[in-house]
This record gives sequence, structure tokens and C-alpha cells, in this order.
Amino acid sequence: MGGGRPTIPLRDTFGRVADDLRISVTDRCNFRCVYCMPAAGMAWLPRDEILSFEEIVKLTRILVEECGVRTIRFTGGEPLVRKGLEDLIALVRDIDPGLDLAMTTNGILLGEKAQALRDAGLRRLNVSLDTLHSDRFRTMARRDGLARVLDGLRAARAAGFDPIKLNMVVMRGHNEDEVVDFARLARTEGYEVRFIEFMPLDADGIWKPETVVASREIIEAIDREYPLQPVLSERPAPATRFRFRDGSQGGIGVIASVSDAFCKVCNRIRLTAEGHIRTCLFSLQEHDVKALLRGGAPDAEIRDFVVAAVWQKEEGHKIGAADFVRPEKSMSQIGG
Ligand code: GTP
Ligand code: 5AD
Ligand code: SF4
Repeated sequence: MGGGRPTIPLRDTFGRVADDLRISVTDRCNFRCVYCMPAAGMAWLPRDEILSFEEIVKLTRILVEECGVRTIRFTGGEPLVRKGLEDLIALVRDIDPGLDLAMTTNGILLGEKAQALRDAGLRRLNVSLDTLHSDRFRTMARRDGLARVLDGLRAARAAGFDPIKLNMVVMRGHNEDEVVDFARLARTEGYEVRFIEFMPLDADGIWKPETVVASREIIEAIDREYPLQPVLSERPAPATRFRFRDGSQGGIGVIASVSDAFCKVCNRIRLTAEGHIRTCLFSLQEHDVKALLRGGAPDAEIRDFVVAAVWQKEEGHKIGAADFVRPEKSMSQIGG
């Protein structure tokens, strides 16, 4: 609540309220994952098209104080390639120290950055890791880096991040045979490993329904080896969570974005690196809030612009439907 005024929640026409903002701080990345980016030739946004920290903080303050946003997740591209990201996190923390601040990263820079991120007020960390074999890592991320990511995970643990979630995009023909190995890793290291269905948001257009490994298949494979028990989530989230029946540490989750999307309870909005509001991963249009921020619009006008944008939030994605249209942007340009 800002200055004692009532908040104006970010409601849409389907009765959902958005209180979870995902801020993409850059479209650049130091990996080229096959499910996201092309091998080469990605055109980066020019630097002056990217929101400054001041602009991000201004908009975030309005959405927190006036619209009741409570969770903020920093994404990219790879968020840690943005210089001084820890300074932005500290500025956002200072808006309201009670905010739930999180980040999704590929982990390659965590060795250097984990402690600074923790000190800046970041609470939760999700790290992408798709394989435990370095040759496959080179094929999937198109970069070397498995050892550094594993070091980064250790640094994150040492800095006090807990829980640490691992995100594995499961692609048939690439890594589906490692699902049980990742469940074992969850148990030995205490991670929550989430298995993500591959979505048609890759730059190369390699997505086909046959490349998706359905979450149900993954749960069944793990449950045969390590019996599972569902965990009820307190808040809306795309992941369906399980713990190990034998009481082991760690846990697993499946993100069934394709076979069973969480759209009905989706409480998210996104701010792209170039300063556009996206109301859905699969939006076909964006709302240019940067123009207002740079044009010196008063806070109330910026707030009302976002309120009006969220009102138009899509019911959900239509993957698999005859009228599904892929967004022009791929995952790294949207922010994951
Ligand atoms: P927490 O539950 O707060 O940890 O966040 P999260 O799991 O949503 O965040 P993360 O960035 O780790 O997202 C993991 C995966 O969930 C992404 O790779 C996407 O595949 C998927 N995802 C995230 N947000 C959405 C969304 O709004 N819609 C759909 N369909 N999938 C999403
Ligand atoms: N389908 C599903 N998940 C994806 N991610 C990136 N591209 C895709 C895709 N096409 C995931 C990454 C990371 C998060 C930001 O999004 O693995 O964990
Ligand atoms: Fe939300 Fe759109 Fe993702 Fe569905 S596809 S969960 S509506 S962002």
C-alpha cells in the first residue's frame, strides 16, 4: 500500500490477479541453448533501448506500492551478464524489504556472484541445468560449462541460498534418459529439481509435439525408482511438486506447460528488457511502458497503463490448438 492509499490490484477479465512480476534485465546470454536461442546470429537490443536500473526501479515501485505486486523474479537472457545486477536487486529490496526476490539463471557466473546476490537481498534461486554429461552440455547449451555451473551451485549453497531449484528442460532425443539421475541428484544434494516440458519458444523452430516429454511420463519413471508423494502448493505456480516418500531431502517438480498449463491460476506479468509489459509468455502483443517512463508520465498514468494492459491478459496459451500462433519472440527475448 503506497502512502496509505488503497492498492489497485492488477486484475484481468478472467478473475485472476497478477502479483508476480518477472523482470528481464537483458536479452543477452552467454549460452546458446537449443531450446531457446539460435547457434549464431541473434541480434541484441541496442544498449539505449534497454531499461536503465532507475527506470526498472521506478516502475517496480509503482507496481509494488500501488498495485500489490509481491514477488519479483529477475530473468534474462542471462540476468548475470547485466553489469551490477546486485545493485539493482538492492534497490528493489529497498522499495520494500518484505518482497519475495528471486532469480532464474544459467548458473555459469554464480561462483563469482552468489555471495553478492545474497547480500543484496536475493532470497530464491532457480538454476537451469539440463544434463550431467559435459559432452551433452556442449550440445545443448552450445558452450562448455558444466563444471563451472556445478561450482556455481556450490557457491550458491555456501552463500546460504535454500532452497535451490534446478530447472531441466526435458527434450526427447537429448536428455530424457537422465531424469532418474536428476532425481538422485535432488536426493543427494537437497535440490528441488523441476522437469520442464519443452515449449514452442525456441529460436530455431525445432519444437515439435514429439519432442515434448510429458510430465506424467517423467513422474512415473521417477516414482518407479523413488516413490513420490504430492506436495500441496500454497501459491499458484506452474510446478506440481512432489517429495520423496522415504523422507529423503530434496524434492522434484514438473512444469507441465504443454500438457497441463497453469494458465487458469496464472498470476504473472512480465517486463521485457526493452521495457514492454507482456501479460503472457505466448502474448502476440506487448504494451510499451518505456515510452511513458521516458516521456516523464506521472506515476498514476504509468500505473493505469499497466492496470489496463493486465485487464487484457490472455486466457492462456493455445499450444496444440488449431489456431495456435507462435509468438515472434523466443524465450531469451521474453525472459523465461
Ligand atoms: P517459482 O515457482 O517461484 O520458483 O518460479 P518458476 O518456477 O515459475 O520460475 P522459473 O523462472 O524457474 O520458471 C521455470 C519454468 O516455468 C520456465 O522455464 C517456464 O518453462 C515455466 N514458466 C514460467 N512462467 C511461466 C508461465 O507464465 N507460463 C508457463 N506456461 N510456463 C511458465
Ligand atoms: N521451453 C521450456 N522452457 C524453456 N526455458 C527456456 N526455453 C524454454 C523452452 N523453449 C527455460 C530455461 C530456464 C527458464 C528461464 O526457461 O531452462 O530454466
Ligand atoms: Fe500465464 Fe500465459 Fe503462461 Fe498460461 S501461457 S501460464 S497465461 S503466461
